[in-house]
Amino acid sequence: MAGASGGALAAQVSSAGAFGFIAAGYDSVESLKSQIGIARSILQSHKLDGSFFGVGFLAWQLDQRRDEAEKLVNMVLEHKAKAIWFAFGNDLQKWIKFVRDHDERKEEKTLVFVQVSSTEEARIAVEEWKIDVLVVQGIESGGHGSSHSPPLLTFLPSVLCLPALRGEGGVPVLAAGGLATGAHIAAMLALGASGSVLGTRFLLSPESLYTDVQKKALVDAKDNSTVRTMAFDTVRETLGWPAGIDGRALKNDTVQDFDCGTPINVLQDKFKEGTKSGNPSRMLVWSGTGVALMKEVNPAADIVLELHEECENHLKAVAQTLR
Ligand SMILES: Cc1cc2nc3c(=O)[nH]c(=O)nc-3n(C[C@H](O)[C@H](O)[C@H](O)COP(=O)(O)O)c2cc1C
Repeated sequence: MAGASGGALAAQVSSAGAFGFIAAGYDSVESLKSQIGIARSILQSHKLDGSFFGVGFLAWQLDQRRDEAEKLVNMVLEHKAKAIWFAFGNDLQKWIKFVRDHDERKEEKTLVFVQVSSTEEARIAVEEWKIDVLVVQGIESGGHGSSHSPPLLTFLPSVLCLPALRGEGGVPVLAAGGLATGAHIAAMLALGASGSVLGTRFLLSPESLYTDVQKKALVDAKDNSTVRTMAFDTVRETLGWPAGIDGRALKNDTVQDFDCGTPINVLQDKFKEGTKSGNPSRMLVWSGTGVALMKEVNPAADIVLELHEECENHLKAVAQTLR
């Protein structure tokens, strides 16, 4: 989660029994290295393997700065992160090969996660790229994604019907998008997922890099508060995303003015000022559709434990109905 998930969030999630990712996002080698250092020291303070975390890359960002990008990915590989996640690029295969080539010299392999937005992308990732873990991201998800992704309830079963994923030996498939509770995770398991990915829920933790104002905006959000938009990428000039990608965020005046055709320079000034002064009606808050069910800021490790317990209770309750 670019701009939100640093070493502390990833490590606390992992320490509680889930698996946390640090976002490389738009980072330099030095800043990413420092977040990895934070993750390692937290994990080691819990007497856990210091490399039990992953790093997520925006592939289009890697493509835009190839020389630095290779140094960035190499640094992560040298730090023996357990997993690397690639999303949002026109040539993910090139980066997967980069990891695999590096791993030829290593005993322990890096798990490659790839996030997809259509059943055809899923087929290619599994059959042709031979990835290790597939993340199926529905239209409900917070942050960036495809504006054409199907809803998760339809998308996940479609992907699970792919011949390469039927029966034994298929790669794990994780469900992402709009999930907020343990009951949601139980539902995804019932549909056949191996697990779930939650993003927005973890923005509401002390460890996330979001500001208190951003977190309050999430707590205050209603079930119709989010929208898919390019408003924020346009005003921030974070452009270069593959065709069809936009982002789901909380709706506010920046989005409304963008949709009404307000000149970009006017919008940028208001956005910068609003971000500086902490004005929720101007600032960027990425968010999935499940946000209305999130009402508290809790330590990331507590969120993991609560989700786990809720999920287990729901699965048991459903099993009871069969007796
Ligand atoms: C603040 C934020 C930043 C994100 N950044 C990335 C990213 O850099 N790369 C990526 O593949 N997905 C990114 N995502 C999407 C997540 O990987 C995940 O699919 C999504 O959060 C799931 O939906 P949810 O937010 O409704 O739980 C981001 C999500 C959020 C909320």
